[in-house]
Amino acid sequence: MNTPDLPTLRSAFTPALLTLLLALLLAACSPDRHAAPSAETRSDAIAQAEAAAGQLMSTLVSALSQAMKEGGPTQAVEVCSSIAQQKTEEIGASFGLSIRRVALRARNDLDRPNTREEEILEKWSHTEGPIESLSEVITNEQGNAVLHYMRPILLGDNCVACHGPEEQIQPDVLAAIRAHYPNDRATGFQPGDLRGAISVEVPLDQP
Ligand code: HEC
Repeated sequence: MNTPDLPTLRSAFTPALLTLLLALLLAACSPDRHAAPSAETRSDAIAQAEAAAGQLMSTLVSALSQAMKEGGPTQAVEVCSSIAQQKTEEIGASFGLSIRRVALRARNDLDRPNTREEEILEKWSHTEGPIESLSEVITNEQGNAVLHYMRPILLGDNCVACHGPEEQIQPDVLAAIRAHYPNDRATGFQPGDLRGAISVEVPLDQP
């Protein structure tokens, strides 16, 4: 009987085996390895993100208007710079998600966008008419399945005191901004301009 010798066998099977192994490996490493969340999980996550973003906006707006009333814009700069990041973190922790404010022209370096946020902000900044909030299931930079939610922040009339054209900002306010934020890029905006966004990641992986 003429049985194939070992080298022949190896040469016949190795490419097929290698292909199979490669396919398995690719499947295991693919970014889509997370099972798609159910419609219910997804809508719960969107509701969480919206609630956290709403709470962040109202917290910051009321802290800002109270500080403006009490001490004017110069003192409000101090208040903003000391509480904005802390309040944002507290709200994220209480909802069990990650939340931040991001902007292409950020005042605080901590608010610089990641690649995905930057792409969305770029697209929004060229959008004519109203900008819709966005929610999408993604694998984030840490490799976790999350619902990513982004809500635009537009400039209002009352924001010009600190984000408007520099000639419209009181000199002492501008000095306070520059003292706190030497890299500030968040002036020169007009009411209605896209100022930035609230960006939320709601975890979807079950522990
Ligand atoms: C009294 C001055 C002042 C006013 C008025 C003000 N801001 Fe700001 N804004 C700041 C400061 C200071 C920061 C940086 C806070 C920090 O360190 O996190 C900031 C940060 C931001 C950020 C985060 C992105 C970044 O650039 O770091 C957004 C978005 C923003 N402001 C939007 C607004 C909007 C919208 C209004 C009007 C409703 C407004 N601001 C009014 C002072 C002000």
